[in-house]
Amino acid sequence: MFLKDPSLAGKRVLVTAGANGIGLAIARGFLESGARVLVCDVDARAIDSAREAYPQLMTTIADVSDEGSVSALFDAVDAQLGGLDVMVNNAGIAGPTGTVENLRLDEWNRTLAVNVTGQFLCARLAVPRLRKGTNASMINLSSAAGHLGFPGRSAYAASKWAVVGFTKSLAIELGPEGIRVNAILPGAVDGPRIRAVIAAKAESLGRAVADVAREYESQSAMGCLVTVVDIANMALFASTDCARHITGQELVVDGYTQKLS
Ligand SMILES: NC(=O)c1ccc[n+]([C@@H]2O[C@H](COP(=O)([O-])OP(=O)(O)OC[C@H]3O[C@@H](n4cnc5c(N)ncnc54)[C@H](O)[C@@H]3O)[C@@H](O)[C@H]2O)c1
Repeated sequence: MFLKDPSLAGKRVLVTAGANGIGLAIARGFLESGARVLVCDVDARAIDSAREAYPQLMTTIADVSDEGSVSALFDAVDAQLGGLDVMVNNAGIAGPTGTVENLRLDEWNRTLAVNVTGQFLCARLAVPRLRKGTNASMINLSSAAGHLGFPGRSAYAASKWAVVGFTKSLAIELGPEGIRVNAILPGAVDGPRIRAVIAAKAESLGRAVADVAREYESQSAMGCLVTVVDIANMALFASTDCARHITGQELVVDGYTQKLS
């Protein structure tokens, strides 16, 4: 189910927030192609379960929004991977829900700290290592909300548009050195998180869960949610030699979603 490509074998890969969801799927995909993968996460229990399920996975605890923690993370990269070929900036939080006049500053700041500053802190330490890597690249997780408006989720949308600007700027800075930088923009991904969001929305509106689920699915032209494997496969492809001239791109995986609500 994961893309297999010989050029991924032996790659040294760091995935942030890799103990769950999309990050874990990306890590598994790389492992299946013979890459060496280190994941970090803030959630120690999730890290333990991921290591138990995938014993080849290297793991460490880190909060990407904290400068000291990111510095310790890159000590682990040096000690455990001995270099870096692929940096996947996956960590991201949903942020607050509400119209702009009701959002709290601390929640706004926290969203930007994890989703944007976290990518900056990791990129800053990844680049000197990627410079010594092979077909080195960085992949930054944005969202369909990184090129569309998202009413009620302005903090999240602002953070994910920022990821796209950050990505395109780094692609231009690092292009001359052969380091590629791309963003992945997933649509709504099927899984426990979205199912909980749908159930909560249905309850708050007094509507049937199946109706609200259909509404989410109909946001894409293909009438369905995407999966973590769809997103992982895009990350894998973007890291192969076949993608050696793909950089600065918004790699959208959303069944063609034109509106978020
Ligand atoms: N799931 C979706 O529908 C969807 C859609 C578009 C974009 N995305 C983006 O994809 C990325 C992954 O999303 P997901 O749905 O797999 O997430 P998830 O909620 O399933 O998992 C997120 C992981 O991030 C970890 N984490 C949270 N804050 C952290 C921090 N400060 N430092 C390190 N780890 C931290 C959590 O412990 C958790 O293990 C995010 O950037 C998200 O915004 C997700």
